[in-house]
Amino acid sequence: MILVVGASGTLGRQLVPLLTEAGHRVRALTRKPSRAGLHDTPGVEVVTGDLRDPESLRAAMRGVTSVISASHAITGSGGGASARVDDAGQRALIAAARDAGVTHFTFISVLGASATHPIDFWRTKWAIEGAVRASGIPHAIIRPSAFMDFHAYELIGKAVLRGKRVVLFGAGDRPRNFVAAADVARLVVRVLAEARDENVTLEIDGPEDLSSMDVVRTFARVAGREAKVTHLPMGMARALARLARPLHEGVARVLQAAVHGETVEEPYAPDALLARFPMPLTRLEEWARARAATIR
Ligand SMILES: NC(=O)c1ccc[n+]([C@@H]2O[C@H](COP(=O)([O-])OP(=O)(O)OC[C@H]3O[C@@H](n4cnc5c(N)ncnc54)[C@H](OP(=O)(O)O)[C@@H]3O)[C@@H](O)[C@H]2O)c1
Repeated sequence: MILVVGASGTLGRQLVPLLTEAGHRVRALTRKPSRAGLHDTPGVEVVTGDLRDPESLRAAMRGVTSVISASHAITGSGGGASARVDDAGQRALIAAARDAGVTHFTFISVLGASATHPIDFWRTKWAIEGAVRASGIPHAIIRPSAFMDFHAYELIGKAVLRGKRVVLFGAGDRPRNFVAAADVARLVVRVLAEARDENVTLEIDGPEDLSSMDVVRTFARVAGREAKVTHLPMGMARALARLARPLHEGVARVLQAAVHGETVEEPYAPDALLARFPMPLTRLEEWARARAATIR
């Protein structure tokens, strides 16, 4: 039995069917079972739990051999603040897994996780990677770049496909990397099948570096129409992030991440991953055409 925390999320929703297709039984932990959209999926048992509630995590471990943590609270604030979920909560999950004798732990981290990253979320991911390694549980740490499903589609491409105006910070000309969450899901399943007895840390990026304007142009090509784009000054994003901090740390963090994405280069470098796990990586245009076909 595999316990998936984050089964209702962008990655989790694509991961769970792949796990059941591969013959795994899945227990999906969610705060809101009615909302998670996971009922009636064969091979999936849904349990109520919360990373902030260690007792719910211990209860969810019954009969579990593997845990996959694909959860986060990057936009959290107040009682759902990232420190409570992404730090204390993930540590409680690791402790519950260790105490229950779980034999494999997959932690979905983030590309660029480091002790010195300017954004706290990336530092927390790095700290939790350390906690996973220190737990002694055989593990896989997966570090994806930004999911195209959200950062390329929800924030940019969706508006273009609908003929609406896109708002970008700055010129939007700095290349960054997007990966399809489906490719990350495929990697997680392969690692469980092929590297369960090793401890691995893998970075997964998409097959091309694209700027926000490249994303706009890709979706415009797919839609067959000109995109309408408004560029806001970067200084405005920085000021908004500063103003938002005392009001909502999650909003401030997302704005900070947007500024980071438009100012720092994270070049595409999947060679190590592809040498170990050869796999096709989805290009944005291919992803966008598939998505556009579902909404026509
Ligand atoms: N999105 C990206 O671009 C990106 C890039 C790199 C890495 N990642 C990593 O990939 C993983 C999946 O991200 P995603 O974008 O798919 O997530 P998402 O769509 O934002 O969904 C967040 C998930 O976390 C769960 N969650 C949040 N707070 C929780 C809590 N207190 N207790 C239990 N579960 C909680 C939610 O479950 P319920 O609402 O059902 O409780 C939900 O399934 C995360 O580890 C994330 O850091 C994401």
